[in-house]
Amino acid sequence: MRLDGKVALITGGSTGIGEAVTERFVREGARVAIIGRDRARLERTVENIGSGGGKVIGIVGDVQYAKDVQRMVEDTLNLWKQIDVLVNNAGICSPAPFLELSEDEWDRHMAINLKGSFLVGQQVARVMVKQDTGGSIINMSSVNGLAAEADQAHYNATKGGINLLSMSMALELAPLGVRVNALCPGFIETRLTKPLIDNPAAFGPYLQTIPMGRVGTPADIASAALFLASNDSAYMTGHCMVVDGGQLIKLS
Ligand SMILES: NC(=O)c1ccc[n+]([C@@H]2O[C@H](COP(=O)([O-])OP(=O)(O)OC[C@H]3O[C@@H](n4cnc5c(N)ncnc54)[C@H](O)[C@@H]3O)[C@@H](O)[C@H]2O)c1
Repeated sequence: MRLDGKVALITGGSTGIGEAVTERFVREGARVAIIGRDRARLERTVENIGSGGGKVIGIVGDVQYAKDVQRMVEDTLNLWKQIDVLVNNAGICSPAPFLELSEDEWDRHMAINLKGSFLVGQQVARVMVKQDTGGSIINMSSVNGLAAEADQAHYNATKGGINLLSMSMALELAPLGVRVNALCPGFIETRLTKPLIDNPAAFGPYLQTIPMGRVGTPADIASAALFLASNDSAYMTGHCMVVDGGQLIKLS
């Protein structure tokens, strides 16, 4: 098993991509703490994944508040004494045309997607440096951090910020044994993308933009996250890894 003996903390781990990553990490031998705001949803995911005998706990918290983040990290350490892998996955996305984008929506996206990644990343990196056994941090970015999509200026900006945050963290933490990479999924089938999938008139043409001719699954992203978390990527840091069925390479 590729994560035997490792402890992972995964934000937004009770749904979509985060849930698939949790399930995969547990199957590979990790103990996983999942963070989310909704207690019932966390409990359901813990029950589903943990019932196979794996070790997974849920911690209620909001990544945009430093006090919550401190408590999540402390709860994980109190139980398992170490954190080896962090997946900064919590994120939101509510499209709005640039000319109508409100200050509140801008702030909300910055606070959860970008500031949340900073707060959790900093707290966990401090733990990893102190325990002196190295670590891997994976920041969930997006192809929207590498190219612009209409009606997503605020979301695009947070994901572009996450890519540079990841490189900056990688630069300073490499000499201290902590690797930091960004994972940039394309269009993945989750509740975030359901409105487009449920609209056949819009979804048909959208699918034409993906050379592989299909949308991605949360399991596709979990495989990439496992690679970045494990020693298979031991010499990789500061990288933005695109997993998008070829969408970004297509000019028209
Ligand atoms: N689905 C896609 O096509 C796609 C593509 C690229 C990147 N992503 C990124 O992947 C990540 C997961 O998205 P998903 O598609 O699985 O959607 P999702 O809505 O299922 O997952 C987001 C998770 O983050 C949690 N969350 C949101 N705000 C939070 C907060 N303040 N504190 C703690 N938890 C919070 C949510 O409760 C949820 O569990 C996001 O960062 C998203 O931007 C998704």
